[in-house]
Amino acid sequence: MDWDALYSSAFEAVKSRIMRVGRVLLAYNTNIDAIKYLDGRDLEERVNKAGKDEVLRYSDELPGRIESVPQLLGSILWSIKRGKAAELFIEDCPTRFHMKRWGWDELRMGGQVGIMANLLGGVYGVPVIAHVPQLSRLQAGLFKDGPIYVPKLEDGTVKLIHPRNFGGDEESCIHFIYEFPRGFRVFDFEAPRENRFIGAADDYNTTLFIRDEFRENFEKIAESSSLAIISGLQALTKENYREPFEIIGGHLKALNELEIPVHLEFAFTPDETVRKAILDLLGKFWSVGLNEVELASIMEVMGEKGLAEKLLANDPVDPIAVTEAMFKLAEKTRVRRIHFHTYGYYLALTDYKGEFVRDALLFAALAAAAKAKLGDVRSIDDVVKAMDVPVNEKAESVEAALVREYGMRNGIAELDGYQLAFIPTKIVAKPKSTVGIGDTISSSAFVGEFALR
Ligand code: AMP
Ligand code: GLC
Repeated sequence: MDWDALYSSAFEAVKSRIMRVGRVLLAYNTNIDAIKYLDGRDLEERVNKAGKDEVLRYSDELPGRIESVPQLLGSILWSIKRGKAAELFIEDCPTRFHMKRWGWDELRMGGQVGIMANLLGGVYGVPVIAHVPQLSRLQAGLFKDGPIYVPKLEDGTVKLIHPRNFGGDEESCIHFIYEFPRGFRVFDFEAPRENRFIGAADDYNTTLFIRDEFRENFEKIAESSSLAIISGLQALTKENYREPFEIIGGHLKALNELEIPVHLEFAFTPDETVRKAILDLLGKFWSVGLNEVELASIMEVMGEKGLAEKLLANDPVDPIAVTEAMFKLAEKTRVRRIHFHTYGYYLALTDYKGEFVRDALLFAALAAAAKAKLGDVRSIDDVVKAMDVPVNEKAESVEAALVREYGMRNGIAELDGYQLAFIPTKIVAKPKSTVGIGDTISSSAFVGEFALR
């Protein structure tokens, strides 16, 4: 397969049509990411000072939330040892203060909504309406120029304005992102892959706080949109999920009545009760985006433990197990599109057919590689700068398995009334950072697909 030729034409096709999609509504989580690139020696000193034995305990098993500095450092080591991402809520002030004094190298837009707003609105020029739980000056300053809007109540009516013109001086919701490269060493551990640990010092996004402007005027805000992307349910717990879920249920009802396709960006959700509640809600979405850890966690609550284990057993992830899991999820929930992404390839299972599904995935993979390569993508023409990143060789065995099993041709197969689309991705060997790549992938593919329809 000449994947590079397909990459090129998919990029040109999406670029020329992306302005057609209309407005995209983005809810609910926006925050500030304070990114710290870890230094092995500094980390070791901190661990020794906090008490190495206690810290190491948490590197074997993550706590449910962070209530002390040893828990924070142990959780960072947990991520490094496995090369896996994790995110925990930082409960107590002394730990928040420790992180603040530890500092950061860079402040960036964070949260699925914030990242997607800047990409879709600030880079692609697609108008977006974003939910920002708290608009501090620092938060507002992280929004790019472009057609990005937040609702503001003025004399009882809702006005859509750029976040920098909101004039708010609310709280800053800061997530501390501890990034490490592949091969990063600390004590006897070595990171098998680049990744990050996130400590969320944030009382708003973590409880899915929804602003009055959105609660009271949702239908009006939704009416002017063509597509919607929902995210930010991941930090809820069995104690606090009911109220936000009721509001979200109402929002989904309104969006469905307006026939607006809604995508759910499923981030890792540690609480099983919340995960089950999301599963029950999935049929109200057009589309869902997830990675292998997230798909495995859904299989677990569906009682598919064996399949969940298979999804995490191999590198690259076994595509036949993934397809089986996506199929089970589609049959159970009737969600129309499932977009799976992993290190090296993407798959999309849809209850509709067409090459545009695959081409939107290609556009998304190019955007992801550009983000990994450049850190920040400033214009749609930056995306094409990733064309020189090679297509992942490991994906050849994945493609061969799909050809064998499902008779896939040119990245497309038909199975039991569904279409399966596959693409091998471009992997940047030394990415600038990893945070936000998943959001870039999912939003580019979803919006790209509607641009190509
Ligand atoms: P998530 O884990 O949801 O944030 O998504 C991370 C995704 O980013 C992975 O599934 C990969 O597809 C992609 N990704 C991670 N690292 C790289 C890289 N170095 N180059 C290109 N894509 C990457
Ligand atoms: C989660 C984190 C946020 C980060 C985002 C990246 O929403 O809370 O800090 O920016 O993931 O995908």
